[in-house]
Amino acid sequence: MSQKIYLDGQLLPKEQAVISVYDHGLLYGDGVFEGIRVYSKRVFRLKDHVERLYESARAIRLIIPITPAEMTKAVEETVAANGITDGYVRLVITRGAGSLGLDIRRTSHPQVIIIADTITMYPEEMYEKGMEIITASTIRNHPGALSPRIKSLNYLNNILAKIEGTDAGCAEALMLNHLGHVAECTGDNIFIVKNGVLKTPPTDAGILDGVTRNVVIELAIEAGVEVREMTLIRHDVYVADECFLTGTAAEVIAVTKLDGRPIGEGVPGPVTKKLRTRFQEYVREE
Ligand SMILES: Cc1ncc(COP(=O)(O)O)c(C=O)c1O
Repeated sequence: MSQKIYLDGQLLPKEQAVISVYDHGLLYGDGVFEGIRVYSKRVFRLKDHVERLYESARAIRLIIPITPAEMTKAVEETVAANGITDGYVRLVITRGAGSLGLDIRRTSHPQVIIIADTITMYPEEMYEKGMEIITASTIRNHPGALSPRIKSLNYLNNILAKIEGTDAGCAEALMLNHLGHVAECTGDNIFIVKNGVLKTPPTDAGILDGVTRNVVIELAIEAGVEVREMTLIRHDVYVADECFLTGTAAEVIAVTKLDGRPIGEGVPGPVTKKLRTRFQEYVREE
């Protein structure tokens, strides 16, 4: 069966799903997106993703041409049309085609693109042993310039930090904010465990308000773990008992080394393992 892409209200064969080279999504990264998981044919936390999508759009004054209810239906139909049981959805809204200038008043209607596909996770070994990361010298976007709360099509900030990570042989890289506080990784939120307390930077540290982050906070509270959203500096991560990342693609993955310093025992810790297991159960229960 050929892959079907939702584009501007229609499900089209992949080869026919094309947009203009004048689209400001391409010319300027002017648009917003979401990455969403499908588990056992169900789209995970679709409501949260749709809400964040419309909030990102609102923040950049992009009017999505369909309602959240229509968007929800379109995502579900695209997943079903592609026979996806376990996979990944990429939802993209571009500003639309316009002139070569920046003026949004000179653009035509925004394009809604939904791609339902399979997903490649990190290798299983990385989940078992934990990952090693470095701190990128590239800081996270200053919230006063481009808020990291907006999941925009302009991901260069993250890409530049990711390049530093891959150059150092790491799959992820830690990004600090303009104040030097821990923000997040290039495509994941970060948590540490210290003396049994789960700690993660608050959204005003200039991070994406991650859907997985919020689910993990809920699951931790349910499991009786104390959770604190608080300012963290790199030192807190160096001396943490445990560290892990959360994200739609990564789920929950342990970090066992930062900048060459082993974290805790240098292996995935008990709280991380418990939350990873609980998360994996939860995604199929919901
Ligand atoms: C910069 C950034 N931070 C955090 C996350 C994790 O967010 P979520 O759990 O919603 O996928 C992502 C991935 O979407 C991301 O791109």
